Amino acid sequence: MSHLAVELLESAVDQQGQLPLFKPPPRPPAEGGARFKFIDLFAGIGGFRLGLEAAGGECVYSCEWDRWAQVTYRAWFGENPVGDIREVKAESIPDHDVLAAGFPCQPFSIAGVSKKKSLGREHGFRDRAQGTLFFEIIRIIEAKRPPAIILENVKNLLSHDRGRTWEVIRGALEDLDYKVFPSVIDAASWVPQHRERIFVVGFDRRVFGDNPPYEAPTPPREAPPTLASILDPNPDPRYTLSKHLWKYLQDYAKKHRDLGHGFGFGLADLNGVTRTLSARYYKDGSEILIPQAGRNPRRLTPREAARLMGFPDKLEIAVSDTQAYKQFGNAVVPLVVAAVARRIVPVLAWQVARSGNGCLLKRPPSVAS
Ligand SMILES: C[S@@+](CC[C@H](N)C(=O)[O-])C[C@H]1O[C@@H](n2cnc3c(N)ncnc32)[C@H](O)[C@@H]1O
Repeated sequence: MSHLAVELLESAVDQQGQLPLFKPPPRPPAEGGARFKFIDLFAGIGGFRLGLEAAGGECVYSCEWDRWAQVTYRAWFGENPVGDIREVKAESIPDHDVLAAGFPCQPFSIAGVSKKKSLGREHGFRDRAQGTLFFEIIRIIEAKRPPAIILENVKNLLSHDRGRTWEVIRGALEDLDYKVFPSVIDAASWVPQHRERIFVVGFDRRVFGDNPPYEAPTPPREAPPTLASILDPNPDPRYTLSKHLWKYLQDYAKKHRDLGHGFGFGLADLNGVTRTLSARYYKDGSEILIPQAGRNPRRLTPREAARLMGFPDKLEIAVSDTQAYKQFGNAVVPLVVAAVARRIVPVLAWQVARSGNGCLLKRPPSVAS
């Protein structure tokens, strides 16, 4: 397959199933032979898991309550994640080196906020159902004190509520004595999709001190695969837009253009990158439409959506098209996670070398919770 990103991930996954793409740092492995142990909170379909495994990690716990995401997670990793995080007792979570969490973004995303506003609902932390889930992460960090954390969310998290949301998040982590490194990364350097996300990496100051030598990853030297290279040559005709839907999308775009708004469908450039795949893609697919000679444009097939996110073809899609689009649109790009994780691992190794501790999981009791 010509899809470089998929190949990269597949070659990583292929090796012993535990993905040692990462060049081992000079340190003894953590218990069980993995280079580090991590937990996968708000796991979705395991985008974090694939990326962290590619960097030499071993998943010791997962939590995800959506029934269909659980189906996919079970099919891919042979494990059923624990359900509602609000019910999880922190003591039931195994010790780990890295806590990973891509917490729900709707309360903070531009589209989510405007939808909630139009429905007269609260957004951000005032969204009672989803806005407070970040504090579940804080609760678990406080109890378990993982040496390192990696959180992911929409870029708008930084500017939401005039920066106050981000200040609360940063403040909560700093209050727990974590040194925080936020960086916005566009997955377009790894996959043919413009997808800017904030990655918040944190290190426990009580373990690493004030200046852990972390730097956000830089884009790979190789160009990402083109959109054309991940498309199916003969997609099922059912993905072609009906005459009715195509007319509706064109009329809708014209109406908004006339009003001076930029809303509308996105006809993808096969040699460029697409717009961001969203969890709403299943509705009309309008944000990413593939032009077709002599026919109406079509939406991506679920497999193409998977590739656009960098999920390898060997992972079978075990759910309906609707669920698959939702799951990929919600996911994190594993290749970006792997790039971030490969910058975290040397910091873990640096700390081990510095302290002579041997293994982070065996850190002294004064440092553990
Ligand atoms: C942004 S998605 C994370 C996607 C994930 N990073 C991936 O790669 O697939 C947030 C996830 O949090 C889950 N979630 C929301 N509330 C939850 C809760 N109370 N307990 C557990 N999971 C929850 C949602 O079902 C959703 O899958």
